[in-house]
Amino acid sequence: MKAAVLTRYNKVEWNEVESPKCKPGEVLIKVSYGCICGSDQHIHKGEFHPRTQLPLIMGHEFGGTVAELGEGVSGWEVGDKVAPDPIIWCGKCPACQKGHYPACTSLKLIGIDMDGGFQEYISLPPSMLYKVPKNVPDEHISLIEVLSIGCHAKNRAGVKENDTIVIWGAGKIGLCILQAVRTVTNNTVFIIDILDERLAIGSKYYDNVIAINAKKEDALERIKSETDGKGVDIAFEAVGHAEDFENAINPVVGCIRSIVGGGKVCILGLGAEPAPVVFKELIWKEGTIVTSRVSHGEFAEVIELLKHGRLKPEALISQILPGEQTQKGFETLENNPSENIKILLDFSKD
Ligand SMILES: NC(=O)c1ccc[n+]([C@@H]2O[C@H](COP(=O)([O-])OP(=O)(O)OC[C@H]3O[C@@H](n4cnc5c(N)ncnc54)[C@H](O)[C@@H]3O)[C@@H](O)[C@H]2O)c1
Ligand SMILES: [Zn+2]
Ligand SMILES: [Zn+2]
Repeated sequence: MKAAVLTRYNKVEWNEVESPKCKPGEVLIKVSYGCICGSDQHIHKGEFHPRTQLPLIMGHEFGGTVAELGEGVSGWEVGDKVAPDPIIWCGKCPACQKGHYPACTSLKLIGIDMDGGFQEYISLPPSMLYKVPKNVPDEHISLIEVLSIGCHAKNRAGVKENDTIVIWGAGKIGLCILQAVRTVTNNTVFIIDILDERLAIGSKYYDNVIAINAKKEDALERIKSETDGKGVDIAFEAVGHAEDFENAINPVVGCIRSIVGGGKVCILGLGAEPAPVVFKELIWKEGTIVTSRVSHGEFAEVIELLKHGRLKPEALISQILPGEQTQKGFETLENNPSENIKILLDFSKD
């Protein structure tokens, strides 16, 4: 069978590899679609070295159908649609002992720390698998992981009905947060970015979304004027590494300044730079800062939402390439971020 193998940094090859055996206690999955994540882009460039060991079959966002059941597996049938949760926590470290699995000190992901799903078949234990109803298209299954990150952020921030929201960053994560918060509140959502094409997606798919290009407009002034000077209930930071430009406002600072007294800021961005926060501004508002890392059981929530048509995964899909063009997918995302959110890879063709 074939797999998209990162043979050296910046180079994915569509290689013949040994087919996985369906071991006792495992489920063999025929992968239908995979999806390129921002972390995959970093891995591709070698920025996760030495955590990633080459050659590596990438891919932690993917889905498929059950092809074979290993000895002793019950509760699954050949042909079932399946979404693997790529996260493996140790269960033993202090965070795991507290039940706070996303903070596991030896958290591992398939497709990063070990071979992943950008291949025609993969064998995994049922403990990592979620069953997906037949009415969810195969393409959308590969987006469950990233949508779960949006839902986890929504849950960490405790978004309530009628909350007003700011999402700083209209990239992959920001747009997933938008989808997640819209399942709870229909009130105004401000979404801020510097790329008009990305901002347009939010307003195209959802009502009551105010898109702000921070290069063209003073985002804080706009939020203030649209909320009668109050600010929003919850602000999400989903930029990470922020591009600098004249009069740029740091996204974390922007979030703190956007909230109303008693509001919340939820940080997801993994930028390496410190944020120039003056805590007095947050203390005066007695605001809360929470962070959100990966997901924790939100696969089930996302699958339920997809089943009932309450998310818009199609809004995230920019293009679909055959698995053999995985390298092209990475190059496209690198060279043309404004016109590409999620690139899907089709591994379903024999
Ligand atoms: N906490 C988690 O669980 C988690 C999971 C995945 C990704 N992340 C992190 O979240 C961040 C966003 O990830 P992504 O995949 O959406 O990235 P992305 O590149 O798709 O999105 C980031 C967006 O921020 C915009 N941006 C850049 N500078 C800006 C500025 N000064 N002002 C406003 N907008 C600006 C970019 O134009 C882009 O659209 C990254 O740091 C990533 O590492 C966190
Ligand atoms: Zn991912
Ligand atoms: Zn642990």
